[in-house]
Amino acid sequence: MDNMNSQINCKSTQRSFLWTLVAVLAWGVTGLFSEYACAQDAASSADTAAVATSAATATAAPTGSLSSDAAVIASGKEVFNANCKQCHAVHEKVVGPALKDVYVRRNIPWLINFIKYPEKVIKSGDAYAVALYNEYKQIMPNHDFLKDEQIVAILSYVQDEAKKGPAVAVAAGGGVAGGAEQEKGGSSGLLILTICILGVLLCLAAFALAVLGKSFSQSLQKNRSFNEAEKEFLDENPFEIGAVVKSRPFLGICTLVFIALVAKVVVEGLFTVGVQQGYAPDQPIPFSHKLHAGQYKIDCKYCHGTAARGKSAGIPAANLCMNCHNKIKTGSPEIQKIYAAIEKNEPIQWVRIHNLPDLAYFNHSQHVTVAGIECQRCHGNIEEMEVVQQSSLLTMGWCIACHRETEVNTKDNPYYEDMVKLHAKNAKKPLKVEDIGGLECAKCHY
Ligand code: HEC
Ligand code: HEC
Ligand code: HEC
Ligand code: HEC
Ligand code: HEC
Ligand code: HEC
Repeated sequence: MDNMNSQINCKSTQRSFLWTLVAVLAWGVTGLFSEYACAQDAASSADTAAVATSAATATAAPTGSLSSDAAVIASGKEVFNANCKQCHAVHEKVVGPALKDVYVRRNIPWLINFIKYPEKVIKSGDAYAVALYNEYKQIMPNHDFLKDEQIVAILSYVQDEAKKGPAVAVAAGGGVAGGAEQEKGGSSGLLILTICILGVLLCLAAFALAVLGKSFSQSLQKNRSFNEAEKEFLDENPFEIGAVVKSRPFLGICTLVFIALVAKVVVEGLFTVGVQQGYAPDQPIPFSHKLHAGQYKIDCKYCHGTAARGKSAGIPAANLCMNCHNKIKTGSPEIQKIYAAIEKNEPIQWVRIHNLPDLAYFNHSQHVTVAGIECQRCHGNIEEMEVVQQSSLLTMGWCIACHRETEVNTKDNPYYEDMVKLHAKNAKKPLKVEDIGGLECAKCHY
């Protein structure tokens, strides 16, 4: 009976082993597919980017006078790494566009001006810059502290990297901003590939085991006689699903996977408690920002005037509506609601949308007036919304992320003069909100 026992052990191990493999293999293959899909997405969005910009480039002048001098390129690389790398790479889109061939898309004087004062160029209505802005929905910071030669050096460095091609740029040790990202993508691809190869090897091994087991039991049955139950067991097919599903190791694995999935859902759910992104309640009067701020271009600050001067942006009183609606659409039942509110001397009961907990302090004027941040960066394109909705997360992580990456607007602000000098002495990177204490707990909690 020793043989029989070892046969039993061998079979059940073999079976669970086999099915684990199949599961691992399936996982690997799905992983590979999603990786492939992502790569396709990135490629196609890069294509649309190319189309969008090429339309606006018809007028661009040919390449200007970029240098191929090694010293210039080296200094360009240094300035690029210190000021541009966090948002740009040569060959791929990061926060901003891939810079490869930008000197073909636009001429050098235009680029110098744009890199120094992007916001000014966009506001001037330059078609190319506006198209870029519409695509990236973000304005890059001013770089007016750079000299023209430094910008030419950066572009020379970009041209040099572009000539080398993407593969070389990565091999050169991530000299390009996207290097780290590419490496990351590459290593996860490698991992999945390894898993797949392992899976295939293990499957082959399982198959060999199954064949071995079969011939083993055949030879056993030739040499000895067994009763019915034993025979049935020996003839059993290791690939039979019913038996596998009932096997203990398989049930164990399923339970583990199930617990892990539930834990993941619960943890992710907990992170979204109190997060109301997308919240868009119906209002007592269907007031449309799309109509007022979009179509009629009424300035946000006309109605939310305190945003520029005080902590809160405020909601306009019904009297302000009357500046126009004592003449406009007076017959509309919705406008009648405004009259009714004024007559009863009761405020209109607007439903509040954005709402931080009391433990956090947020001040509009500091962000709108001092930092010069557009309302849209935090509230989305309100002027396109029929019904206002919360477009940002409004979590602590959201505040912190912006404080980490946003430069302090120190221009024409004597308050920051000494701080900027001090900072420039000790650090190469521009002065970020983080550097003036924007990550200190007590600035937001008190
Ligand atoms: C905080 C992120 C950020 C930084 C830092 C940054 N950029 Fe940009 N850059 C952008 C974004 C976003 C755009 C897209 C245009 C826009 O809306 O401003 C852009 C656009 C550009 C363009 C136009 C690209 C095109 O395809 O026509 C050039 C050139 C450029 N940046 C160069 C630079 C240089 C040089 C530096 C460093 C001195 C730099 N940028 C630093 C974010 C950044
Ligand atoms: C004609 C007056 C008017 C103009 C102009 C206007 N708003 Fe409003 N806004 C209101 C009123 C009234 C409400 C409250 C009703 C609602 O939520 O739709 C409101 C609500 C909001 C809210 C949501 C407040 C909350 O409860 O959290 C935001 C954010 C906002 N406005 C931003 C803007 C921005 C940004 C602009 C400029 C693009 C703008 N508004 C222009 C009158 C105006
Ligand atoms: C600067 C002028 C102006 C102000 C201030 C203003 N509106 Fe309007 N509003 C308009 C115009 C213009 C229209 C479009 C009229 C039309 O469609 O003929 C309009 C349309 C409306 C409509 C749609 C009416 C309908 O039946 O079609 C509503 C509702 C409305 N406004 C509410 C408000 C509220 C509430 C306020 C105050 C928070 C306000 N408006 C402030 C100019 C204004
Ligand atoms: C840096 C991000 C940021 C910018 C920029 C910003 N807001 Fe806000 N806004 C917020 C946050 C956060 C709240 C929630 C405040 C709270 O609950 O205390 C808010 C709330 C509001 C509200 C609801 C009423 C209130 O004051 O709590 C309105 C209206 C509003 N913002 C309008 C504007 C307008 C108009 C501008 C541009 C002039 C603007 N915001 C710029 C982040 C921003
Ligand atoms: C879009 C970017 C952005 C977002 C989002 C943002 N901030 Fe800021 N914040 C800034 C900038 C820029 C400054 C620097 C303003 C200045 O020069 O004083 C600042 C300054 C501050 C300061 C003063 C810091 C100091 O050291 O003086 C506080 C407090 C603050 N933010 C709170 C918040 C809170 C709370 C939130 C989230 C609800 C938030 N901010 C979201 C950009 C942002
Ligand atoms: C830039 C502003 C800012 C800074 C700096 C900041 N916080 Fe926050 N914090 C917030 C905001 C806004 C919330 C509310 C987030 C929400 O409602 O999801 C918050 C929420 C919290 C909460 C959760 C409270 C609750 O009831 O869920 C804790 C705890 C907290 N902060 C601790 C800290 C600590 C500790 C630090 C310093 C290391 C810190 N915060 C720095 C803005 C900030």
